[in-house]
Amino acid sequence: MKKNSIFYLSLCLIFTACGGQKKQDATTNSLIIPGTQWLDTNGNHINAHGGGILYHEGTYYWYGEYKGDSTYWNPKVPSWECYRTEAGGVSCYSSGDLVNWTFEGLVLKAEQNDTTSELHYSHVLERPKVIYNASTGTFVMWLHVDSHDYAKAAAGVAVCDSPTGDFQYLGSMRPNGQMSRDMTLFKDDDGRAYHIYSSENNQTLYISLLTDDYLQPSGIFTRNFVDQSREAPAVFKRKNKYYLLSSGCTGWDPNQAEYAMADSMLGAWTVMGNPCRGKDAGVTFYGQSTFVLPVAHQKDAYIALFDKWNKTDLIDSRYIWLPVAFKGDSIAIGWKEKWDLAKVFQ
Ligand code: DGJ
Repeated sequence: MKKNSIFYLSLCLIFTACGGQKKQDATTNSLIIPGTQWLDTNGNHINAHGGGILYHEGTYYWYGEYKGDSTYWNPKVPSWECYRTEAGGVSCYSSGDLVNWTFEGLVLKAEQNDTTSELHYSHVLERPKVIYNASTGTFVMWLHVDSHDYAKAAAGVAVCDSPTGDFQYLGSMRPNGQMSRDMTLFKDDDGRAYHIYSSENNQTLYISLLTDDYLQPSGIFTRNFVDQSREAPAVFKRKNKYYLLSSGCTGWDPNQAEYAMADSMLGAWTVMGNPCRGKDAGVTFYGQSTFVLPVAHQKDAYIALFDKWNKTDLIDSRYIWLPVAFKGDSIAIGWKEKWDLAKVFQ
């Protein structure tokens, strides 16, 4: 064999051994690598977008949108870039260490036949979040349920007595009589839970106290960031201060994040500015907020979760997880090419 051929063969072997592409192989390393493909313990790309994480009895459960594999531009919505994919329902992955995730299946399945069902795959099922109600022993899921053109603007509720499903769908509503699109849930230390959602055509963010069983709005709510067009809300609490991360409204395209602080969940909220630092901080590292996870049994350990949407191939959207740093009460989320959970949170 000629010298040149040996050289090229060696290059090919090295490339193949490296997978030809940067991937996060959960089975062989313990690093978080933001923005790369993240594989589950079966070697499949994790499909849990717009997600949130529940910690329950020693295990983390990651719930998210299970996206279909054919993205199309919805011709029935000419006014904005309404890229769509079939709604696959809500997926769940479990983990003990936040790095290695096992697929638990679809815990809320999309409907395949009945086109009138709100869960039909042609509709929109986004941003599912699950909290546990200790007094009823029920896992309660809220999610954004919409028509194919996002005109329905409703919130759906589903329940289960186990974190891994199957969740029973109870139906949808316009909470407090108003539109509801991007949303999250927050359960406070006192057991009260809140539904936080973009309302009034995404112009104003509502914070709504739920009933004690978490299944309905209690009727107590506040209008926040009025006419400021905030979406993708993510809430956490530290030292009796509440934090709310959000994005602007630019469809699947990234924009600058913002955080706000309050002494009470219902407000008043003070806007603090962009928490992101470093490379591409002005566009949230090309991501959009979805959740902030307090790491269990660790003081001051919070992870900010963002989706890095790929609008023309939505199933290939990636995840950006970064640690939240505190200076006094202020926060900063710095870009990291990769980071080791165990080393950052000691
Ligand atoms: C932005 C939202 O944050 C996403 O969840 C999704 O609804 C897209 N808009 C749709 O364009």
